Amino acid sequence: MSALNETKIYLTIPADAAYIDIVRLTLYGVASKAGFSYEEMEDMKVAVSEACTNAVLHAYNDCHNGIIDISFTLEDNSMHISIKDYGSSFKYEQNVVSTAAHHDKPLEEIAAGGLGIFMMQALMDSVKVCSDLGTEIILIKRMGGNEDSI
Ligand SMILES: Nc1ncnc2c1ncn2[C@@H]1O[C@H](COP(=O)(O)OP(=O)(O)O)[C@@H](O)[C@H]1O
Ligand SMILES: [Mg+2]
Repeated sequence: MSALNETKIYLTIPADAAYIDIVRLTLYGVASKAGFSYEEMEDMKVAVSEACTNAVLHAYNDCHNGIIDISFTLEDNSMHISIKDYGSSFKYEQNVVSTAAHHDKPLEEIAAGGLGIFMMQALMDSVKVCSDLGTEIILIKRMGGNEDSI
């Protein structure tokens, strides 16, 4: 693994959709330096964008007066991405239907319940949600994690 192993990279952005590009660019820099494939980086970019968009829209109600703390950590051949806001939090289990529950449903039915967290679950190896003062989403992607299924 690269020299970045166990290094933590922090980023704080205003809770405004206009800054989510900066998160994507930073992710791309960290992940490509670490050796993730293009597909893995694309998966992580979509998942991280969804998490940041949720913080902007749901935690801060699109008011742009909060902040989002993001950290990228490379650990045991995996990228751990934390997206933390300090806005209104939510009950994960009550708001979000799990990936398993979406199985075999038509897409229109799934979309009605919100797709962001479902997409994060589909694209990442692990999604954890901690609600305390706001919300922290922890996304984990293993390097080379899809190789078995090819
Ligand atoms: N960071 C957050 N802060 C507060 N509530 C959130 C946050 N992220 C998600 N939620 C809640 O979880 C629900 C599901 O999110 P998501 O799957 O992305 O669907 P959508 O954003 O389309 O509603 C949201 O509607 C919202 O109620
Ligand atoms: Mg969403």
